[in-house]
Amino acid sequence: MNLGYKKYKPFQPISFPERTWPEKTITKAPVWCSVDLRDGNQALVNPMNLEQKLEFFQMLCDIGFKEIEVGFPSASETEYEILRALIDQDRIPEDVTIQVLVQAREHLIRKTFEAIEGAKNVIVHFYNSTSTLQRKVVFNTDMQGVIDIAVEGARLIRKLTEEITASSDINIRYEYSPESFSGTEMENAVLICDRVLEELGATPENPVIINLPNTVEMSTPNTYADQIEYCCRNMKHRDAAIISLHPHNDRGTATAATELGVMAGADRVEGTLFGNGERTGNSDIMNLAMNLYSQGVDPELDFSHMNHIREVYERCTQLKVHPRHPYAGQLVFTAFSGSHQDAINKGVNFMQREKSPYWEVPYLPIDPADLGRQYEPIIRINSQSGKGGAAFIMHQNFGYILPKAMHPEFGKMVKKACDQAGREISPQEVFDIFQKEYLDVKAPYELLSYKIFEEDGGQGQVIVDFEGSIRHGDDTRAVSGKGNGPIDAFFNALHNIGLDHYDFVSYSEHAVSTGADSKAVSYIQLKHEGGTLFGVGVDSNISIASVKGILCAINRNLSAT
Ligand code: KIV
Ligand code: ZN
Repeated sequence: MNLGYKKYKPFQPISFPERTWPEKTITKAPVWCSVDLRDGNQALVNPMNLEQKLEFFQMLCDIGFKEIEVGFPSASETEYEILRALIDQDRIPEDVTIQVLVQAREHLIRKTFEAIEGAKNVIVHFYNSTSTLQRKVVFNTDMQGVIDIAVEGARLIRKLTEEITASSDINIRYEYSPESFSGTEMENAVLICDRVLEELGATPENPVIINLPNTVEMSTPNTYADQIEYCCRNMKHRDAAIISLHPHNDRGTATAATELGVMAGADRVEGTLFGNGERTGNSDIMNLAMNLYSQGVDPELDFSHMNHIREVYERCTQLKVHPRHPYAGQLVFTAFSGSHQDAINKGVNFMQREKSPYWEVPYLPIDPADLGRQYEPIIRINSQSGKGGAAFIMHQNFGYILPKAMHPEFGKMVKKACDQAGREISPQEVFDIFQKEYLDVKAPYELLSYKIFEEDGGQGQVIVDFEGSIRHGDDTRAVSGKGNGPIDAFFNALHNIGLDHYDFVSYSEHAVSTGADSKAVSYIQLKHEGGTLFGVGVDSNISIASVKGILCAINRNLSAT
């Protein structure tokens, strides 16, 4: 037995029975800040180069981010250059604020202020680590020592701001992060944040961003939410602060931690696209935004070109989006299971029929079209797929509305093809089966010519006449018959040449567009000695489509025997 688990100490949650967040719902998007170009970039095997960062920055602006952390200009020459390129080449939109990160250390803060010269709107984000563990094993200092570092940093930042704003019209805001916040005693976290707010002169009119990171995710998301609500309620200067979250994903629950943190009172969220970032990554802003969207809340970010966003992300970061990644993965709008396919099929039909203004499709929490993915096959076909799946593909992709009674017959053919191929099959392959099994069936009987006309049967009755010729092998035979409609007339014509052991069961038809023009397609179900089967006919004339459908069913029966 592996007893390794004994070396881990369980996280000690705060006792906080006053919590109110479990009763809350999120009805408004938080302020989003992308940290892709900093926290995300610093976690890449091959960090983005200048060109890639500029492209990524542009994409973040297009998505709608108004706050973007662009780097750590004091820490690396490349990050400095990137920041300069954005400023000097005038690439930052008027309504976008760039954010720069810096440790609370004098020479780094000074260098950061040099780097931002010429920018219009900047958030100077400074931090130092505060957790019990970091104080003990990294800094060997007590809480007062950590508070002093933050306060001195704040003081210098305020002074440099006064200097720079005296000679330029730069607009500087502040952000402070007690790094490793979630591993800090909450009284200490509140204390240091209040001290920083005082030192920076924060007011409700000029609030400072207090970013409370889950630097390493330590426990279940509810414990982070408790910590956030605790701070919101206990900070003296809460009204002079914008409370921000910065969750990491070490336990795989960053999305949940962020959502509960917002319910607990946070105003702002830092994260990355697809959750890129140090170790298991940051909170995934795309996921969070689309979660809001799917609850009827405007996320204030635009992910309607998801495939493009994923492509730029994968190219710039050289990371892959997992095929099952929420909203973005290749497979997330694909149903393999027959019962799921059937339910999706019914949901889509229900919405069309009822003209429902709301999205009401089982198994699809969101309309793929809202992510620009309407052209992807929603249902893919493998041997597990039910009859509804193949019918759905025929309807959605090719416009053929197979009658319900035909679903089992066609579904069986598709399943057999999957079993034989030993893989899933594409929508085109589904259509090819349909084509081969129904549309291309021209033997043993082929309709060569036809004429359908009406004659007066007396007493107000109309008689329909069918006259035509049918090839059977090398033989061409004239056929004719009368009836009360085209189907009846053709049946009687077939009787006259000895094809008399078929009974008509059901018929349905609809228009289908074939390129520029529209044709009629009819589905004819016939009964024969061994059971029933379908035939399909397509023609510009609806009566002839039915005639072809009957012949198709007979041909299929004869070629099967
Ligand atoms: O994860 C973290 O704590 C950080 C801080 C610098 C905000 O990235
Ligand atoms: Zn981080």
